[in-house]
Amino acid sequence: MTRQTQDWSLQWLSHNAWLLRYGETRILVDPFLTGNPKAPVTAAEVKADFILVSHGHADHLGDAVQIAERTGATVVAVAEIVTWLHGKGVKKTVPMNIGGGVNLSFGRVEITQAVHSSTLPDGASGGVPCGFLLTLTSGDTLYFACDTAFYSDMALLAKKNVLLAVLPVGDVFTMGPETSLEAVRAIQPKAVIPCHFDTWSPIAQNLTAWRQQVAVLGAEPVILKPGEEITRKSLLTQR
Ligand code: NI
Ligand code: MN
Repeated sequence: MTRQTQDWSLQWLSHNAWLLRYGETRILVDPFLTGNPKAPVTAAEVKADFILVSHGHADHLGDAVQIAERTGATVVAVAEIVTWLHGKGVKKTVPMNIGGGVNLSFGRVEITQAVHSSTLPDGASGGVPCGFLLTLTSGDTLYFACDTAFYSDMALLAKKNVLLAVLPVGDVFTMGPETSLEAVRAIQPKAVIPCHFDTWSPIAQNLTAWRQQVAVLGAEPVILKPGEEITRKSLLTQR
C-alpha cells in the first residue's frame, strides 16, 4: 500500500545528483557518484525506483547502469540514451524526447530543452540534452534545469507555478551565478537551489551575493551542502 502524503524530501548528492523521496518512491537524478569527490553516498548503497538521466556526459549518466542493474529501477531519458542503456543491459526504461511528458506512479515527467551537448562516454551520440519538469501527484512542481545555458523560453515555465527550481550555477559548462538570475527572473519559482558548482575547482563559486540577489527577485534561495536535504514542509513553513 503506497503511503499518500504531500510531503517530499530532496537530498543533494552533490553536482547535479539528487535523491527525491516522495511517499515510498525514490527518484534519482543524474547519479554521478563514483569518481565524484563530493558524493555523500556510494553507487553500491543508494536506493532507487526511478533514475532520470539528463544527458550523456559522465558527470550526469554517472552510475546509472550499475544502479539500475542492482535496484531494478526504471531509467527515464531521451530515446538515444535509452537505446544506449539497453545495449548495456538496462531493461526497464522510459524513452522520451523534448516537449513530451509521461505519467508515472509519482506524477508527470516532462522533459525540457537544455542548451548543452550530450555525447556518451564511448563517443556515441546521446541525442539532445534535457532538463526535467516533475509534477508530483500532489500537484507540486519541481524543475531540474540540468546542464544548460539560460534561454529565454524558460519564461514559459512561469505558467507552471514552479515550487522549486534547481539551477546550475557553476559557470564554465553551464549557467553561472549571474545568468542563473536571468533564469530565476524568467521562471519565477518560489524557491531556488543551486547545483553543479564546487565539485572541482573550475566550477568553484562563492554564492553570497547570489543568495541576496535571488531573494531580491522574490524567490527563496536554498543553498545545500552535499548530503543535505530539504523537505516540502521546511520549504513552506519554516522559511
Ligand atoms: Ni554536461
Ligand atoms: Mn555537467
